[in-house]
Amino acid sequence: MAAKSRSETIPMLVLFISILCLYFPVKTTAAVDLLYVTLKWPGTLYESGQCCMPTTGSPAEDFLIDDIKTYDSGTGQFVKNCDPSCRFSINKMHDLITDLYSYWSDLSCPCNNGLQNWKNTWCTYGNCSSLSQHDYFQTALNISRRANLLEVFEVNGIVPSTSTSYKLRNIQTALMANLGLSTHVECVQRGPFWRRTTLLSKINICVSANGKYPIGCPFDQKVVTCNGDVWIYPFASNKLKECCWPAGSGDHIDMVTEKYPAM
Ligand SMILES: *[C@@H]1O[C@H](CO)[C@@H](O)[C@H](O)[C@H]1NC(C)=O
Ligand SMILES: *[C@@H]1O[C@H](CO)[C@@H](O)[C@H](O)[C@H]1NC(C)=O
Repeated sequence: MAAKSRSETIPMLVLFISILCLYFPVKTTAAVDLLYVTLKWPGTLYESGQCCMPTTGSPAEDFLIDDIKTYDSGTGQFVKNCDPSCRFSINKMHDLITDLYSYWSDLSCPCNNGLQNWKNTWCTYGNCSSLSQHDYFQTALNISRRANLLEVFEVNGIVPSTSTSYKLRNIQTALMANLGLSTHVECVQRGPFWRRTTLLSKINICVSANGKYPIGCPFDQKVVTCNGDVWIYPFASNKLKECCWPAGSGDHIDMVTEKYPAM
C-alpha cells in the first residue's frame, strides 16, 4: 500500500506543479535589445495648433526629443511598463537639465515644465531598459546631437520652408549619409482632402541597447505616412502660445530644495 502511494505521488506532484505554473507563469523579463529614439519636428506640431511655450523657457529651434522606446526584436514588440513600483527622480539628472529643457521640452498645452512627460517616458519605457535613469535620458540627448538632423538636412539642400516641399526619397538620402539604415520617417496629413498637405512629423532612430550608436532597424515601418511632396514648415519658438503666468514667475525645477522629490 505504502509503495503504491509513493509511485503515484510523483506524477501527481508533477501535475500539481504544472497546473501551478499555468496559473502563475514565471515572470520573464523581456530582452530589450534595441532603443527607438523618436525626434519630432516642432514646426509640424505648431501647425496642428496645440502648442504652448514651456514654463521653463523657449525650446531649441530644432528637432526635439519625443521619446525613447524599448524594443525586443525576439518578440518584435515594444516592451512597456516593466515595474509598477517604478520611481522617477529629477535629482538624478542635474547635469542634463538645461539640455532637457531645450531638447526634451513638452510643447503640449497647458504650458508645463516637461517633468510629467519625462516621468511617464521613464516609467513606461526607460525602466525596461538596461540603462540607469541618468543614462537613459543622456542617451536620447546624445543621439539627437549625433543625428544633427537640421544641419544634415541643410547640407543636402533641405531647409524648413513654406514655399518648397521635398521628396521623401531626398529626405531619406540625406538621413542615410549620416545615420545609415537606422531611420524611419513619419509624416502627418493636414488640411481638407482637396488641399491635403503632407508634413514631416518625426524621425525615428534605431539605437543599440547600450545607447551608444545607431544601428540598422531590424523591422520595417508599419505604415508609410509620407506620400508625395513632404513639407517641413519653419518653426519659431517665439510664436508659441504663452500661458498667463505673471511675468518672471518661471517654473524651473528647483533641485537644490527638492521641490519635486522623487516621484
Ligand atoms: C525599474 O524599477 C524598479 C523598481 O523601482 C527598479 O528596482 C529597477 O532597478 C528599475 N530598472 C531600471 C533599469 O532602472
Ligand atoms: C553621452 O555622450 C557623452 C559625451 O560624448 C559621453 O561621455 C557619455 O558617456 C554619453 N552617454 C551615454 C549614456 O551614452
